Amino acid sequence: MLNFMKAGFYQFSPMFGKKEENVRKVLDAVKDTDAELLVLPEFFATGYQFVSCKEVEELSESVPSGYTTRALAEFSRERGPHIVAGLPERCGNKFYNSAVLIGPEGFIGVYRKTHLFFEENICFSPGDTGFRVWDTAIGRIGVMICFDWFFPEAMRALALSGADIVAHPSNLVLPYCPDSMPVRCLENKVFSVTANRTGTENRKEGQSLRFIGKSEIVSPKGEILARAPEDEEALMVAEIDPKDARDKKLNPFNDMFADRRPEMYRALHETPSEK
Ligand code: ACM
Repeated sequence: MLNFMKAGFYQFSPMFGKKEENVRKVLDAVKDTDAELLVLPEFFATGYQFVSCKEVEELSESVPSGYTTRALAEFSRERGPHIVAGLPERCGNKFYNSAVLIGPEGFIGVYRKTHLFFEENICFSPGDTGFRVWDTAIGRIGVMICFDWFFPEAMRALALSGADIVAHPSNLVLPYCPDSMPVRCLENKVFSVTANRTGTENRKEGQSLRFIGKSEIVSPKGEILARAPEDEEALMVAEIDPKDARDKKLNPFNDMFADRRPEMYRALHETPSEK
């Protein structure tokens, strides 16, 4: 593993349905970056607001054989960065809100979003991969997608599985995430890279979605190392040492993982029967 590495995100406003244009735009924007890990938004090449399951079907891709994964893999092979990027995945007759991890040697793995947000529930299936961490040449990378952040169990599961860095492709519309990620990082002592998008989609009568930007990189101490503006395209990179995420000690008496008492958290494994 490298000692220090550069992790970054690219925030922008994709054009709905224009997959090849969006992929081209992103790869052009990031072609000179020195980031060794680059995180792109959820559904970065398709846009977000699908108005029918037919649209989902038309824009979804097999992983890793689909156009987007192959284009990113080629870029990574030529230029070197690991990439985490969100895309609609087709597998058999199911559709998932997924994110792929790609390295210079090719496709590494896929994560399928566990907690679907709002109307994603209409056409997408809840993810079946569980929270996954990959041990790569640049550190241990875990992945969650957008609304997953709202469930503290997601980042906890990734941190307990050994993640140094949580890559977080997003299409945030609620305002809470950017100010909450420092707490998620602090309580788990991990880095995070949230890649959000900007712009507005008005593809559904009476339903305007405004995406809040503010992509950010956060340290295991809860420090915001980089944060993008609300409504501008941005490529931002921070130098981090993934090993900082391996020391869970707070002081000589407290270790954030060793001090956990799972036997006291029984309620976490039970679903309340009454709402
Ligand atoms: C979201 O999960 N895209 C808000």
